[in-house]
Amino acid sequence: MIQYAVVGDPISHSKSPQIHSLFAQQTGEDLQYDKLQISADDFAAEVARFFGRGGGGLNITVPHKEAAFALANYASPRASLARAANTLGRDPEGAIWADNTDGVGLVRDLTRNNQVSLNGQHILMLGAGGAARGVLTELIHCAPASITIMNRTRSRAEALRDDLSAEGMMYVRAMNESGGPCYDLVINATSTSLKNEGLQLDVALFAANFVAYDMMYGPEKTPFLRWAIAAGAAAAMDGLGMLVEQAAESFELWRGKRPETKRVINQIRNSL
Ligand code: ATR
Repeated sequence: MIQYAVVGDPISHSKSPQIHSLFAQQTGEDLQYDKLQISADDFAAEVARFFGRGGGGLNITVPHKEAAFALANYASPRASLARAANTLGRDPEGAIWADNTDGVGLVRDLTRNNQVSLNGQHILMLGAGGAARGVLTELIHCAPASITIMNRTRSRAEALRDDLSAEGMMYVRAMNESGGPCYDLVINATSTSLKNEGLQLDVALFAANFVAYDMMYGPEKTPFLRWAIAAGAAAAMDGLGMLVEQAAESFELWRGKRPETKRVINQIRNSL
C-alpha cells in the first residue's frame, strides 16, 4: 500500500488523515495516510527517508512549509510565488516536486462551497505571515476590484506586496486605517484565532453585507467570526472547507482522481 502523511510540529490535532481516508474510500484508492511529528532539525533528512522508502507524497504544515519548498528539486509556479509548499510528491524519475494547494483550496471554498464571488470585490487580507502569502496570488487571479493587506507590522505587509507585485496590484494599510474602499470580503490570516484572540476591527471599514472568512477553524466560532456576526456580516465562515479543498487538490495531484468534498466537509465538521 502506498504511504502518504502530513508532517508538522505539532501535528496531533491534524484532521488530514481522516480527510484523506474518506477520499480514499470514496474513490476506491488503496493508500495509507499517517501523521508525522518531525522537528525542524530533522525535517529534510526525514523527508528524504520517507521518499527513499517509496512514500507516495507528503502534506506539509506549520512550521515546515518554507523548508519543504526549499528542499524540493522543482516547484509549481504557485509554490514558487508563495515560497512555501504544502504538498510534496515524487515524479517517475525520483525527483521531489513541491506544490501549494492552499490558495486554490481557499478560493474553491469561497466560490463553490459558499457562493462568494471574488470578481469585482474589494478584499481585505488581515495578516502578512505564511498563511496570507500562501493564498494571495490565487485571490489576485480571481480579478477582485482590489486587495488590501492590513498587518500589525506594516513593513511585513509591504514586503509581501512587493514580493507578489508581478502578479497584480495590492494595497497596504495600517490596521483600521480608513480612506480605502469599503471591503466586501475580509479574510483573517493572522494567528489570533489560534490563541482565541480577536482583532478589534472598525466596522466602518466594511460594506453592508460584507462577508468574513477565518482561515482557522474549530468546534466553536472564532472571536473574529463572532465579531463579524455581531457587526452585521452577511456570512461568516471558518477555514474547515479550505482545509478539505486543499486536501482534495493534493489528493488529485498524487492520485489523479478528484474526490467529492461537500460530504467530507460535513463529516469532519461533525467530528470536531
Ligand atoms: P502564519 O504562518 O500562520 O501566517 P506567522 O508568519 O507567524 O504565522 O504570521 C502570523 C500573522 O498573524 C502575522 O501577520 C502577525 O502579525 P505581525 O506580522 O505583526 O506579527 C499576525 N498576528 C499575530 N498575533 C496578532 C495579534 N495579536 N494582533 C494582530 N495580528 C497578529
